Amino acid sequence: MKIRSRLLWLVFVAWLPSALAIAVVARAAYVDQKNAVLADVRKAADSLGSIVERELDKRFVMAKTLSSSSSLQAGQLEQFYSEALRASHGTASWVLLLTRTHQVLNTIRPYDPGFSVPIAEGSPWLPAGENIFFSMNGPVVKKPVLGVVAVPAKSASPQRYGVAVAFDPGVLQALVREKAAPRYAVVAVMDKNLRVMARSKNPERWLGRDATGPLRERALAGKSGFEPSVTLDNVPSLTYLGQPNRYGWYAVIALPTESLNAQARKAAIDAVSLAGILLGLSLLFALYVARSIGEPILALKDAADALVQKRVPPATSTGLFEADEVSKALHNAGLHAKESAEVLEARVGEAVARTAEVQARLAEAQKREAVGRLAGGVAHDFNNLLQTISAAHHLLQPNVPEGPPRRILEAASRATGKATSLVKQMLSFGRAQTLEPEPVDINDFLLKISELTSKAAGANVSLRAHVEPGVAPVFVDPTQFELALLNVIFNARDAMEGGGHIDIRAALVDAAQTGLPETTAPQYVQLDVCDDGPGMTPETLHKAFEPYFTTKPVGAGSGLGLAQVLAFARQSGGDARITSALGNGTTVRLLLPVTAEQPAASQESAAGSSAPGRALRVLMVEDDPLVASVVVPAIEGAGHSVTHCLTADDAKALLQLGERQFDVLFSDVVMPGTMTGFDLAKWCEESVQGLPVVLATGYSAQAPQSEAKLLKKPYPLQDLLVSLQQAADQT
Ligand SMILES: Nc1ncnc2c1ncn2[C@@H]1O[C@H](COP(=O)(O)OP(=O)(O)OP(=O)(O)O)[C@@H](O)[C@H]1O
Ligand SMILES: [Mg+2]
Repeated sequence: MKIRSRLLWLVFVAWLPSALAIAVVARAAYVDQKNAVLADVRKAADSLGSIVERELDKRFVMAKTLSSSSSLQAGQLEQFYSEALRASHGTASWVLLLTRTHQVLNTIRPYDPGFSVPIAEGSPWLPAGENIFFSMNGPVVKKPVLGVVAVPAKSASPQRYGVAVAFDPGVLQALVREKAAPRYAVVAVMDKNLRVMARSKNPERWLGRDATGPLRERALAGKSGFEPSVTLDNVPSLTYLGQPNRYGWYAVIALPTESLNAQARKAAIDAVSLAGILLGLSLLFALYVARSIGEPILALKDAADALVQKRVPPATSTGLFEADEVSKALHNAGLHAKESAEVLEARVGEAVARTAEVQARLAEAQKREAVGRLAGGVAHDFNNLLQTISAAHHLLQPNVPEGPPRRILEAASRATGKATSLVKQMLSFGRAQTLEPEPVDINDFLLKISELTSKAAGANVSLRAHVEPGVAPVFVDPTQFELALLNVIFNARDAMEGGGHIDIRAALVDAAQTGLPETTAPQYVQLDVCDDGPGMTPETLHKAFEPYFTTKPVGAGSGLGLAQVLAFARQSGGDARITSALGNGTTVRLLLPVTAEQPAASQESAAGSSAPGRALRVLMVEDDPLVASVVVPAIEGAGHSVTHCLTADDAKALLQLGERQFDVLFSDVVMPGTMTGFDLAKWCEESVQGLPVVLATGYSAQAPQSEAKLLKKPYPLQDLLVSLQQAADQT
């Protein structure tokens, strides 16, 4: 049920007692009014009776006075006529002189001594009493006449006269009309014989007629007061019959029942109208109130809908306290929900971004891994080829005459050198490089390579370095570190064609400040190389670390420089980053983990301290026939003897036989068979007393497990010979 219906019911239920009260009051008012009317009627009737009595009294007095007139006594009728005329003047009456049968004088006519008109039959006058007469048709005036008669007690004249004062019943009629209140009342005057002498309604018709029915019976029974009856016009009425006055005349007032009921009906209609208006107004008010309650409540529904649609509903002010409170609460709930949704959205966004970042790192790591493996594989074979070529150059060189052939050979040697460094870079960016990290002091390091870096920067570019005091040593492979720094400086130089400045700054930072996802040391050295060159476009910056990405012309750049830098930094447990903007220069930042170990005092180069040696018995293990074909003659050329095995397994078997003695074992690392060069070296350390080992490798993911000397392919033959000599001498 709607609020409106409930309120309408409430109003109706509240209205019902009021309506009953109105009915009771209306009825009481009607009864009071009716009683008042009846009282007025009673009063009016009584007063009418008295007035009529007075009218008759006046005329009796006049008649009596005239009847005792001396002129009448003396029979001087003409004089009496004059007196009578005078007496009746202004009284609405006229005077008659009556004998028992005739009227002989009438002041309504001029005096006529011969005047004599017969009295209508039965004209009543009593010799010694008073009488009142009524005639519907007076013989002289030819209209209804009412009159009173006085007869002198004694008379000197022989003729006995009666003196009558006649008047028009219209006189009474006027009085009756005056008393006709209320207007619908029918007022009448009846004489002692219960004939109608005056009537407020249709007097012409009923004048002189006898009263009939219950009224007549009541008059005869002497019962005055109100009683229902029927008027002469046959109208049912409540009729009041007054007490008879001194002359036995009655005043009667009839109140038609129909009119009285009309009063009651009117009172009822008034009451019903009032109650109806009251009900109508109350219902209108209830509708207004229902609307003023219903609308705020429906607005709450809209607010709830807004919440469902994830909007914040407004806090409304409708003037309905409860609804406003709920609206406020919904508004607050909306705000809270919105805030929660925003926080949730932000967290989800962060989580998605973090996931994307992790995925990107993973993808990059996988890519590098794959490229690294590929590069490693290629580099291994490639290094063997380069070893063969460089050894061939070395062997050929003494035999090639000076001049163009020698220059051609030297050009080929330089190309081989370039190819060697290219393979080195390939290995490093693919993390295929076996790093040999050691504690490196930044100051010493910068000092040591200062000549190299100045050359790398070129004449147009000024280079400055600043290392903050207290910067601890880092744990890196010095060769790769050097290469990385040179790569960055080359880039800066290339970017600043017209010259500029390069600043190298080193500082210590806590692991937490590095932003690295995983840290391996409590502190890091932050090495910034800043240039004031043209900077990079966002696209270049985005791709700068990618291998083979270069903006340089074909042949000028390989796109491997920064790839090596990144690979070196990450492989060392740190990271590399670039900040750059067009026109604002470039900063390449290296983050490298510090170490508690101190750098070893620098040793003299092994090669530098070598002395010419004895002839050695060399056991050489090399699976690549091409390499062997060059290296074996080179070693033999230096006065040593060489026994060549194709695999480590063969070499092991030979050593186990123990038939031949060797001064040094020179082995490749990666070979077919069950053992690598490292395995063979380890086995020798444990099983063959006094046999030193020198290893050579183009590429190996495996770290050396023995103390054997490790040469990196392609190695200069001189280095090999020195290494073999030193190894043999140390035992
Ligand atoms: N300091 C710098 N200022 C402006 N651009 C730079 C800077 N360093 C690198 N770049 C941009 O990054 C690219 C990639 O550099 P990266 O060192 O990897 O390769 P490269 O210098 O082009 O070739 P490579 O180093 O192998 O000779 C460069 O081609 C250059 O566009
Ligand atoms: Mg470069």
